[in-house]
Amino acid sequence: MTASVKTAVLPIAGVGTRFLPATKSVPKEMLPIVDKPLVQYAVDEAIAAGITDFVFVVGDHNREILESYFGAVPALEKILEDRGKTKELEAVHGTYKSITSINFVKQDKPLGLGHAVWCAREFISDNHFAVMLPDDLVKGTPGCLSEMVEVFNKFGGNVVAVEDILREHTNKYGILDVLDDDGQIATAKGLVEKPNPDDAPSTLSVIGRYILSPEVLKHLELGQKGAGGEIQLTDAIAATIGKVDFRGFRFSGKRFDCGSKAGFVAANVAFALDHGDIAKGIHGTLKSLI
Ligand code: G1P
Repeated sequence: MTASVKTAVLPIAGVGTRFLPATKSVPKEMLPIVDKPLVQYAVDEAIAAGITDFVFVVGDHNREILESYFGAVPALEKILEDRGKTKELEAVHGTYKSITSINFVKQDKPLGLGHAVWCAREFISDNHFAVMLPDDLVKGTPGCLSEMVEVFNKFGGNVVAVEDILREHTNKYGILDVLDDDGQIATAKGLVEKPNPDDAPSTLSVIGRYILSPEVLKHLELGQKGAGGEIQLTDAIAATIGKVDFRGFRFSGKRFDCGSKAGFVAANVAFALDHGDIAKGIHGTLKSLI
C-alpha cells in the first residue's frame, strides 16, 4: 500500500492523574493492555496504516522512558539471543524496527490538545498528517487509521473517526454539526468541543483519530483559547471548514477509553479474551466471577 499519510503525531504529555499511584513512576501510556503498553497499540495501528514517521509530544515526566522504550536494548537483546528466545526477541525488535523516524518534542505547559499538536509543527511537512490519542484504543481489523486512510485517499480533506453516543455524554467530546450522513460517512459543517447536551448539534462524537490538513496548524498558530480555557484542536479543525472538507467516519472496530479506569480494565479483558495463550483461562475465570 502506498500511504498518502506518512506522519503521525501522538500527544502524550499528560501526567495520568487518574492512574496514580501507578503513574508515579510508569507513564500512563506505558501501562500494559495484556502484554503491550498502550502506546504500542497506537503505533502498531499507525504502521499498519502506512505511517513511517512518528512525533511524540511528551512531558519531562515521560520523555526518557518513552525514548528508551522505542530504542534498542542491547543488553536485553543479548540475553534473549543467548537463550534462543526468538519470539521474545521479535517482540522487542517490533518496538522500533519498522519505524523510519521517531522524534520527541516537549510540550512545556498543558495548554490543550491543539497546543500539543502545534508543538509538533517542525516535523509536519506540507502533507496531511495523522493525530492519534493512544488513550483511545480501537480494537479491530483493519485498524481504525487504515480505514481512515482509505476514506482520505478517496475524498481528501480532514477526516476524523466518529461514533454515535448518548446525548447526555456530548460534554465529553468534540461533536459534529452534520450536513449530510450516509450512515458511515458524515459530512460536517461544524465541530464543537464538549457542548452541553442541550446545545449539541448532533450526537456524533470524535474519537482520538484524525487525518488533518496542515491548514489546521495555521489556526493553531494563533493560539486562541476555547472550551475549558485550552487551545483546542477541535476549534482549529472547525476554522478550516469551508476551505478544507470535513468528514466523520464511523470506524468498524470497538473503542475503549483507556483514559478511564473502567475503559482500561475493559480493554484488558477484551484483548485477553482474544489472546491465544490465555483466552480460554480468562473466559473461565470471568464466568466464575460473574
Ligand atoms: C479530546 C478532544 C475531543 C475528542 C476526545 C476523544 O478530548 O478534545 O474533541 O472528542 O479527545 O477522546 P479529551 O479526551 O482530551 O478531553
